Amino acid sequence: MLKPNFENMDLISPIVEQYAEWMTNEENDLLSEINKQTNETHAHPHMLSGHVQGRFLSMFSQLLQPKYILEIGTFTGYSALCLAEGLAKDGELHTIDIRHEDVELSKSYFQKSPYASQIIAHEGNALDIIPLLGHRWDLVFIDADKVNYTNYYNLVLDRLSENGCILADNVLFHGQIFDNPVKGKSPLAIKDFNEYVKNDPRTSQVLLTIRDGLLLIKKEKNA
Ligand SMILES: C[S@@+](CC[C@H](N)C(=O)[O-])C[C@H]1O[C@@H](n2cnc3c(N)ncnc32)[C@H](O)[C@@H]1O
Repeated sequence: MLKPNFENMDLISPIVEQYAEWMTNEENDLLSEINKQTNETHAHPHMLSGHVQGRFLSMFSQLLQPKYILEIGTFTGYSALCLAEGLAKDGELHTIDIRHEDVELSKSYFQKSPYASQIIAHEGNALDIIPLLGHRWDLVFIDADKVNYTNYYNLVLDRLSENGCILADNVLFHGQIFDNPVKGKSPLAIKDFNEYVKNDPRTSQVLLTIRDGLLLIKKEKNA
């Protein structure tokens, strides 16, 4: 079977993407190593958040200074390390992935970082693990299987702290949510998720057109 060419589905023109990269702070050496090695050796390198989105995650986390971060979908650890840059001094980042190889690889990168003692990597199905974690989350990054985005959202919403936020990745799904009719499980699930959040009175949200779309969600007061 032919490998899908994700480059052809990029929503942002290469010149805009290049300019955004140029005008954005550089990655540190460890992030640059993860980015390079993932692109050279992983079968699905397009899943990595990348330079500009990574700097956004880092800056957003630094502004929020979260004590507890939950990441759903670790992959090779790139976004976890970006989010960890904003952790409070005594904070913890919990990250979950179902693939053993990715969990082990991400752990090896976490060990090389200043956040080794603050990042807790969980291996298994996020649907099973999230209910076992007792924290109130200040920041949640949803970036795993698209068919479960609405389930993840509902699982974490009651566990968000008062000013807690959720960021959900790939909410434009390479533009496939604009097809008419929308085909395929993941784009359909993302389209349903976006509409579910939009119609949910418990939250307010803004869709950011960074990379493949990031949905920033905040719980309403008294929700
Ligand atoms: C898009 S990648 C995450 C990318 C990463 N956040 C980054 O930006 O570098 C999605 C990850 O979710 C994981 N995943 C898929 N289904 C899962 C599930 N049910 N529970 C936990 N992890 C899952 C995959 O193994 C994959 O590594």
